[in-house]
Amino acid sequence: MPRKLRIVINTGGGDAPGLNAVIRAVVLSAYQRGWEVYGSRNGYEGLLDTDQLVRLTPEMVANITALGGTILGTTNKANPFELVVETVTGELEKRDVSDKIISNFRRLGLDYLIAVGGDGSLAIAQRFYEKGIPVIGVPKTIDNDLSATMVTFGFDTAVSTATDAIDKLHSTASAHERVMVVEVMGRYAGWIALHSGIAGSADVILIPEIPFDMDKVCRRLMENELNGRKYGIVVVAEGAAPIGGTITAKTSTEPGRDQVLLGGVGENVAREIRARTGKDTRSLVLGHLQRGGSPTTFDRLLATRFGAAAVRFIEEGLSGVMVANNPPGMVPVPLKMAVERMKRVPLDSDTVQTARDLGICLGD
Ligand code: F6P
Repeated sequence: MPRKLRIVINTGGGDAPGLNAVIRAVVLSAYQRGWEVYGSRNGYEGLLDTDQLVRLTPEMVANITALGGTILGTTNKANPFELVVETVTGELEKRDVSDKIISNFRRLGLDYLIAVGGDGSLAIAQRFYEKGIPVIGVPKTIDNDLSATMVTFGFDTAVSTATDAIDKLHSTASAHERVMVVEVMGRYAGWIALHSGIAGSADVILIPEIPFDMDKVCRRLMENELNGRKYGIVVVAEGAAPIGGTITAKTSTEPGRDQVLLGGVGENVAREIRARTGKDTRSLVLGHLQRGGSPTTFDRLLATRFGAAAVRFIEEGLSGVMVANNPPGMVPVPLKMAVERMKRVPLDSDTVQTARDLGICLGD
């Protein structure tokens, strides 16, 4: 492909540590080939209002690999196929502005879109592909819940942050002889909870894949007492739910954000533990701390590899695919397939078995 290509990159959905490493890798790999890269601010905003489109040069992406967040900004409430806009009468209305984005893309002589996002953003990218825009997707999410790739960047950093927090809770829980309940992110998958819970030596780990029984949870904590260990650590994934119960969530009131917002299960679990065992129990929600900060070395490398592979795929003439990590390499998988199925923790996995072997209660 000898022609000088013009690529536009955007970052969409919740941020994840490693986004800047992807951007840098795309820019440097493209410039090596003599191509140009533009960044669309806040998801698709730069393709709608082209003042929000920036030319990205190697100088502009110098030293950003270690930065959290994204230099391009991101949003999880601006789906261009259902953009919420205010009408002249002040009412909110959903509009499909995808055709305007496509006409801007063509008018600016852009050749390819690299969309970096989770399931929602990649589903939007797939729709643009179906409307004729050449697209490469890059999988991002701290939740690690995309089925087509072995791992997403951002996950390792989130797990490290959660593990670090759990480590710190051991000393205060022990000093006060308390049970500490930590709620971690992950949506409907228990990856962050399971990995940080094992690495942080939790007594109980509750994940969405295993509905939990409070009797079993409390019995495990009382075993600690019998063994002379007067405190306990419980890690709860935000999407975990009791047997026969429902997920703790509220519907978002933010315009353009249709998703439910998970959260609150940790406090419910703490309340039950307090009531059933009489143990002094506290809960905390780690929340967006897990999305912030500098990416780990693992995530920097993974994100950089994703970005470089996206540019290689363009050179190979591929389109409508997502870069998937399939060790030892990066492979293209159809975007459509990549967003079809959520990747949840397999109950027969070695990691789940390891937790059981260590006597960690998984709530069942
Ligand atoms: O998907 C990433 C994630 O951080 C989830 O783990 C969490 O449920 C959600 O995003 C929170 O979204 P928001 O940024 O709207 O608070």
